[in-house]
Amino acid sequence: MDATAWALIGVAVVAITAAAGAFVVAFRRSRPEPRPEPDATAGVSAETRQADRSRAGVRLEPIQAGTPTLVEEVPETEEEAPVPAPVASDAVEVVETQRVVEVSPEEAGVTRRQFFNRAIGTAFGSYLGLFSLASLAMLWPKLSGGFGADVVAGAINDLRTEVFNPDRTVTPVYIPEARGYIVPAPDDLGEQFSDVGVVAGGLMALYQRCVHLGCTVPWCESSQGFECPCHGSKYDMVGEYSAGPAPRNLDRFVVEERDGDLVVRTGSIVQTPRAASPIVQYPQGASCIGF
Ligand code: FES
Repeated sequence: MDATAWALIGVAVVAITAAAGAFVVAFRRSRPEPRPEPDATAGVSAETRQADRSRAGVRLEPIQAGTPTLVEEVPETEEEAPVPAPVASDAVEVVETQRVVEVSPEEAGVTRRQFFNRAIGTAFGSYLGLFSLASLAMLWPKLSGGFGADVVAGAINDLRTEVFNPDRTVTPVYIPEARGYIVPAPDDLGEQFSDVGVVAGGLMALYQRCVHLGCTVPWCESSQGFECPCHGSKYDMVGEYSAGPAPRNLDRFVVEERDGDLVVRTGSIVQTPRAASPIVQYPQGASCIGF
């Protein structure tokens, strides 16, 4: 993998980590902070605390409508002196119309702030997640060895045998994975191909895509060139421009020789300008298209 692939992998990893972080932060923020228990006896004298045992062991009973509210005390310890029960009388009537009851966070449900925090976190995390998936999808061909990665076209000796015919004509070898043709390299590369690493083992690899508007350019055996059926651009057997609206030569890939194999680096495409003086003769016979 080249530096670009590693950079994209890094971006994807960072985005996935950020997405996970966003989820965690959002859900942690939405959880209510535990509140300290209020000290109901703050500021109360020791004598009063001793006398007031009402908070310990108290059980609240449902209130019956129309009856005075009584509280049943449960002694906390055996030594504790029983506290006289309040006496209901006609003079004092305790009427409780509303009771404030503290509930747990689970009982309280989701507050509006929690809802918005979670919504924002989910949206942000989803965006980063989708971005990560898109990055990985873009990287997938490079990771899986398809177009965009290095493609092993085959043994150079075998390819040369297929490309060069006994009658001195050539037949390019089509490599579907590379979306291109293996063609012979001319003995004299000229200025346009000499410095760009597009020759290995006497062979070159041409991209099948027409440089005019992108049609696939087929090989024409009779003319010994590539002829585009869409608008009539024509290129010789090494991809040099010959005729038609194409603005430059056919694009080609950087190639390498590895252990006797020809490796086509389909992630590295080389563009060259129209040939001022083509290296090979074209056409060498009848054209395959009507242009
Ligand atoms: S797309 Fe090939 S000539 Fe137009």
